Amino acid sequence: MRDAAPQTIYLSDYTPPAYLVDSVHLTFQLAPTATRVISKIAFRPNPEATSREFFLNGEQVELIWAKIDGAEVAPAVSPDGVRMDVPDAPFVFEAEVEISPQTNTALEGLYMSNGMYCTQCEAEGFRKITFYPDRPDVMSVFTVRIEGAEPVLLSNGNPTAQGDGWAEWHDPWPKPAYLFALVAGDLVAHPDQFQTMSGKDVELNIYVRPGDEGKCAFGMEALKASMKWDEDVYGREYDLDIFNIVAVDDFNMGAMENKGLNIFNSSCVLASPETSTDGNFERIEAIIAHEYFHNWTGNRITCRDWFQLCLKEGLTVYRDSQFTSDLRSAPVKRISDVNDLRGRQFREDAGPLAHPVRPDSFVEINNFYTATIYEKGAEVIGMLKRLVGDAAYAKALDLYFERHDGEATTIEAWLTVFEDTTGRDLSQFKRWYEQAGTPRLTVSESYEAGTYSLHFTQMTPPTPGQPDKAPQVLPIAVGLLAEDGTAVQPTVVLEMTKQEQRFKFSNLESKPIASILREFSAPVILDTAALPDNRVFLLAHDTDPFNKWEAGQTLAKDLLVSMVTEGATPDQSFLNALVEVARDDSLDPAFRELALSLPIDDDIAQAVFETGAAPDPDAIFTARETLKLSIAEALSDSLPRLMASCQIDAAYAPDADQVGKRSFGAALLNYLSLLDGGKAAQAQFDSATDMTQQFTSWLCLLRVEKDAAATSDFYGQWQHDRLVIDKWFGARIGAASPDKAVAMAQALTQHPDFAVTNPNRFRATLGALAGNHAGFHRADGSGYQMLADWLITLDAINPQTTARMSAAFQTWKRYDADRQGLIAAQLERILATPDLSPDTTEMVGRILN
Ligand code: ARG
Ligand code: ZN
Repeated sequence: MRDAAPQTIYLSDYTPPAYLVDSVHLTFQLAPTATRVISKIAFRPNPEATSREFFLNGEQVELIWAKIDGAEVAPAVSPDGVRMDVPDAPFVFEAEVEISPQTNTALEGLYMSNGMYCTQCEAEGFRKITFYPDRPDVMSVFTVRIEGAEPVLLSNGNPTAQGDGWAEWHDPWPKPAYLFALVAGDLVAHPDQFQTMSGKDVELNIYVRPGDEGKCAFGMEALKASMKWDEDVYGREYDLDIFNIVAVDDFNMGAMENKGLNIFNSSCVLASPETSTDGNFERIEAIIAHEYFHNWTGNRITCRDWFQLCLKEGLTVYRDSQFTSDLRSAPVKRISDVNDLRGRQFREDAGPLAHPVRPDSFVEINNFYTATIYEKGAEVIGMLKRLVGDAAYAKALDLYFERHDGEATTIEAWLTVFEDTTGRDLSQFKRWYEQAGTPRLTVSESYEAGTYSLHFTQMTPPTPGQPDKAPQVLPIAVGLLAEDGTAVQPTVVLEMTKQEQRFKFSNLESKPIASILREFSAPVILDTAALPDNRVFLLAHDTDPFNKWEAGQTLAKDLLVSMVTEGATPDQSFLNALVEVARDDSLDPAFRELALSLPIDDDIAQAVFETGAAPDPDAIFTARETLKLSIAEALSDSLPRLMASCQIDAAYAPDADQVGKRSFGAALLNYLSLLDGGKAAQAQFDSATDMTQQFTSWLCLLRVEKDAAATSDFYGQWQHDRLVIDKWFGARIGAASPDKAVAMAQALTQHPDFAVTNPNRFRATLGALAGNHAGFHRADGSGYQMLADWLITLDAINPQTTARMSAAFQTWKRYDADRQGLIAAQLERILATPDLSPDTTEMVGRILN
């Protein structure tokens, strides 16, 4: 059956469900191409409903029979569901349907991955399993029976009974269908347990394919740490007897918080020192925490409708970033989050895909699992906490859990909790949820008779559908320094509410140097062009680690832009200041690594574009390489001592201390490779005993093109390990020089290990091409054409991943007319593809407009 025709859905059209569900019983008779799902659903009319129409969503499910209160009925079946007349009183609906998990390559609903059955129901996948009111404000208690030959049969909640070839599960917590999950396969468990704060024992398992047992220990420790942290910091206890995690190789996103049965992309849970980098370990720890934290922020309290997605995602990202900050280094986490925010969310906000944290319309909700909803959504919560203070934030969260537990609720309800706790009026703050685009904050200063003033102006540029923006509430954290580097004003938070506003600091002995937007206290673009340039001073003296780092980054970015647009050469004072930071042993090595990293090509392209010029990808690549070489030369005398300081004598552990040393060491090795032709990198590669050392040294060899032997050794060693081979695909394309990236990607899509059906491999290959800025933007358009070809191929298999990856084109209007023409032609070609999915049609359509 064909998919239903795409339709735009509006927040303003929300109406309550016509019927509520008291209980759901599901029986699954598993078979690869003919799974039977027998449902028994107790409905009752919703007293708050405005309509009595009975409609159940259902897509690609074949109805065998249906009954109401035991009597067979013949519903009107359409491509998106069924309609029928029902009693005006509580009734039981029953049905049997047939679905085909084996041929479900979209990886949404019930599907198969390497012979294992698994599900992904968020956002609207449950309707591909059976007929149901598939909307988050219909919450119910689920009982599930699974019949199948697989040794492990799992669903949500607690196990209630099992026998040979069957198992039954009951989830006592009412939940929307998007949190339903089922897994059946030949799996092995890595078991453990946790005792909750009230003394209840919880059984924990990470289920993996046989052979992966050795990669579970770290994820399990992260899970237990998350459970403890949520008790300690938010007072939230786990609420079932069992918590299961399953690793799946074919998965569209990172992971999914299904009640009591989290399903993970195997790349986001499996880890071992030999096969995973430090970055992988950190990401796994954060994602395990994220999904676990959803149990309260997402599952116990969920979203009324999908427009409220940030209610659970922004809050849960905020919570997982607090967790990482507590476990590791808060400044390092803040800097990497801001790097991410700028690289992904600012990029989105600056282009045709810009949308508010709470959008007001969509065609395909899967297209809105974006950096704006997640990362900007988390920033908004950070601002709220900064504005009300830590104590009020804690009180508000307690009230939120108390007032809304068991509900599907809204951003309005969330803000009301804060208003009720603090007495503040948050109506202006709410604009953060409603207005798209990144505010620009311009600052100037004056000093007179002991009084220093900062004068701010805010402006948010137009975004699609939103030509005019009103001023937003900006918490601006500011500190003042004296010329000798001492603090004359510790950090204060200025609360800007107007379009233009002046803040004064009096009784000063001399004109201070301002450190503005400390900790990146609001997600804005700060323009300090009207201030004296104190960045070299701030890089050396700022006590706020974020702004210290920021000073170096903006210096580097401005320098790179002037190298690209005016042919400038690397500036000695900048190089000296950077070397000073690198040599400062009082600083965390992880911080020094961040300070030594240059903005990526894509950021430089955006910065060039903002000067009014069309970015030239090759010139950007060359400028960055030139600056890297200058830094390497400036650092060269210090390299031996600094690299020695990164030596680790203990066994490998992915803790903050070791990770910091290894990352700083890798940055230094990268610079050294530019001077020694890769000799030191080869030595490290040959002796590496963990993936971080092996991978970072191989990357150095790739960048200096001395990688031939290492590349084949790496492949030979790891051929059997999918996740490591993903790195092998990605790194070769990502590190290829601009003239070779497309050819490399072409060659690797012909490699026997390339698989279009596996999202991880597809992203490792085509995502790496799109991420190789100068390679992707080759003037001949071959990069654009190659990506478009593969998106067209993938769309017929997996619309969701296709649509997400089409966002690689979102920056197209930055470039020159020739490139714009080439990209537009590819976008038009994609749109003209017969039977293109609604997902990709929406995304490409938005990008083109
Ligand atoms: N709720 C999941 C998470 O944030 C994301 C799942 C989204 N999946 C999807 N197909 N839209 O952890
Ligand atoms: Zn989430």
